[in-house]
Amino acid sequence: MGIDSLNGKVTIITGASSGIGAALARAFSNEGALVVLAARRIEKLEKAARACHGDTLAVKCDVTSADERQRLVDEAVERFGRVDILVNNAGIGLYGDTEATKESDLRRLFEVNVFAVFLLTKLVLSVMREQGSGLILNIGSIGGLIAHSDKVTAYVASKHAVVGFTRGLQRDLHGTGIDAKVVCPQLVDTGFYQASFGAREMEGLLEKVKGRMDTVDQVVEGVMRGIFSDRLVILPTEKSERAYERFRDV
Ligand SMILES: NC(=O)c1ccc[n+]([C@@H]2O[C@H](COP(=O)([O-])OP(=O)(O)OC[C@H]3O[C@@H](n4cnc5c(N)ncnc54)[C@H](OP(=O)(O)O)[C@@H]3O)[C@@H](O)[C@H]2O)c1
Repeated sequence: MGIDSLNGKVTIITGASSGIGAALARAFSNEGALVVLAARRIEKLEKAARACHGDTLAVKCDVTSADERQRLVDEAVERFGRVDILVNNAGIGLYGDTEATKESDLRRLFEVNVFAVFLLTKLVLSVMREQGSGLILNIGSIGGLIAHSDKVTAYVASKHAVVGFTRGLQRDLHGTGIDAKVVCPQLVDTGFYQASFGAREMEGLLEKVKGRMDTVDQVVEGVMRGIFSDRLVILPTEKSERAYERFRDV
């Protein structure tokens, strides 16, 4: 059992200072959700919060810090009394050959994309269990279902972990009133690639794939349809559906 409306739903969104997270915050607030935006760049986060409707809260939070994750949940509960939806959106990329991948970059990638998702979910679940309702909405990637491109092995591994985590979570939460879903976008036109490990190596490639990218608005539209469906995996756009069909057996 998931949610049937966003109206009045207290929603924590990580990585809400830019890209998909900031756009989801706006879209959720337009539907009446009370949005708690979290990320490290506080000015951008506050700007994103100002673009939302209704009551919002911006919390500076590095999702890899245990103290900051706890503070995020505490501040959300203190302000709004509950947490109905957690959108685990904060994420980074890593581009490059496996042999050239630095261990420190790989560990950071998994800290942000995997461990923070698991550990923040763990904190929020204790609140949702008391309520007997909630939704964990993970932003995975098409790379969580397939190997969609060359030289993104570490990223693909991290996002497969996010999809696997969501599948396990949904099973374990059966009958609790709490649901879990994962969104798997393909290429989206955001600052994501510039913020990724290996960004410089990727520059030429980005120009080539620009025309195949989805816009943030297209992804958000797909998410808004998908959250009310009974699908565990949300492929938010036609291009993401096609990419999945093309590479699913590779
Ligand atoms: N763009 C794509 O092609 C694409 C495709 C499939 C999936 N995705 C996924 O979509 C999600 C959002 O990405 P995007 O495309 O919107 O890129 P983006 O604009 O770079 O957004 C990433 C967000 O994550 C936040 N973030 C990064 N590290 C963080 C940390 N340690 N603590 C807290 N927040 C952190 C950033 O905020 P601060 O820097 O302010 O902390 C930023 O708001 C990611 O999970 C990504 O893997 C993206």
